[in-house]
Amino acid sequence: MAAMTISKVHEMPSGLSKAHTNLLSIQFGYVNSMALRCAIQIGIPDLIHSNDSSSMSLSELAASIPIPETKSPHLYRLMRLLVHLGIFALDENSGTAEPKYILTPASKLLTKNHDNKGVIPFSKMVLDPALVNPLFHLGDWIKMEGSLPFELCHGGNMWAVAAQKPDLNKDFNAAMESDSQLLMSFIVKHSPQLFHGLKLLIDVGGGTGGCARTIAKAFPDLNVKVLDLPQLAADFPKDDGVQFIVGDMFKHIPSTDAILLKNILHDWNDEECVQILKNCKKAVPSKEEGGKVIIMEVVVNSQLKDPEHTQVEYEADVLLMTLTSGWQREEKEWRKIFKDAAFEEYKITPGFGVRSVIELYH
Ligand SMILES: C[S@@+](CC[C@H](N)C(=O)[O-])C[C@H]1O[C@@H](n2cnc3c(N)ncnc32)[C@H](O)[C@@H]1O
Repeated sequence: MAAMTISKVHEMPSGLSKAHTNLLSIQFGYVNSMALRCAIQIGIPDLIHSNDSSSMSLSELAASIPIPETKSPHLYRLMRLLVHLGIFALDENSGTAEPKYILTPASKLLTKNHDNKGVIPFSKMVLDPALVNPLFHLGDWIKMEGSLPFELCHGGNMWAVAAQKPDLNKDFNAAMESDSQLLMSFIVKHSPQLFHGLKLLIDVGGGTGGCARTIAKAFPDLNVKVLDLPQLAADFPKDDGVQFIVGDMFKHIPSTDAILLKNILHDWNDEECVQILKNCKKAVPSKEEGGKVIIMEVVVNSQLKDPEHTQVEYEADVLLMTLTSGWQREEKEWRKIFKDAAFEEYKITPGFGVRSVIELYH
C-alpha cells in the first residue's frame, strides 16, 4: 500500500489567502452557471424527479441519461460541484452502498412538471449564448458613446433582433411566460385585493400572456387583455379568452381600468419610462374613479434587505445594462420617474421573491 505523509503546512497570510480565494471564486462564477446549464441540458432534475424513489445514484444517472462509461467519473465531478452549490443534495438516509442524489428546493423548480411549469425556459434563456455573448463587449462599450453591448454583438436591439430570429423570439417569450406563471400564481393567491373592483386590465408588454391567463383564471369576471408588439401575435394562444392587441406602448395604450407592467420598465431608461407612464396615465382613470397602474419589478435594496437578493439585483442590473437601455431602480429612482410622469401616489409591497409590487395612482 502507498504510504502517505503530510508535510508541514506553509500557510499563506490569511488576508492574502482570503483575497485570492475571493477573486478566484468570482472569476469562476461562470463555471457554476455553465454546470447548471449542462445539468438542465441533459435533464438531470427530471430524471431524479421521475425515478420511483425520487433519488438516483451516479450509476443510475449515467445509465439513464445515457452517457459513455468513460464519462462517469466526469459526471461525478459535475454533480460534486452542483451538490456543493445546493442544486442537488446527497440523501443521508438512502441506506444504499452507492450514495443517492436527491432534488433540493432549487432543482425542484427545474423539473418540467413543477406546478408552475418550472423555470427551465428562463434558465435556458439567461444562459443562452445570445444573451451571454454581449457581456464580452462590456469593456469596449463603456469607453464609447452610444449603442448597447447587445447591439455591438448582434447588430440591433433586442426586440428588433428577436423579430428577425423566430427561435430566439420563441425562447425569449417562453422564458418570460415561465417567470410570469411562477410569480403570478403566487400573487393571485396571496394578494387578490390588487385586482378587486377592476373590470378591464391590460397587461402592457404582456408577451404571450403568462400573467394575463393566470389572472383571468383566478378572476373570471375580470376582462384581461395583452398589448404587445406584432411579432408576439403568432405565438399568442388564440382560444383561451385573453385577447391580444397589437400595439406600441410608446404611442398609445387603449382606455382601461388598470394596467399591468411586469418586467417592462426595467428595460428602458428614465426618459423612455416617463413616456410609457404618461401613456398609462392617459389610459387609466384617477384613483377616485378606481384606476391604477400595477408595476411588478425589483426595487433595489427594498425594505426586505437580504444579501442574496442584493447580489441578484446588482447582477441583473449589469445584465440589463448589457442587453437594454434599462436599469434596476432604487426607490428614489422610481419616485423620480413617477413624479416626472405626473403620478401623485404610489405604494410599494416587497416580498415577492426579489420582486416588489408597486401600485401607482393619479
Ligand atoms: C421583458 S419582456 C416582459 C414580458 C412580460 N411582461 C413578462 O413579464 O413576462 C418585455 C415585453 O415588452 C414587449 N415590448 C417591447 N417593446 C414594446 C412596445 N414598444 N410596445 C409594447 N410592448 C413592447 C416585448 O415584446 C416583451 O414581450
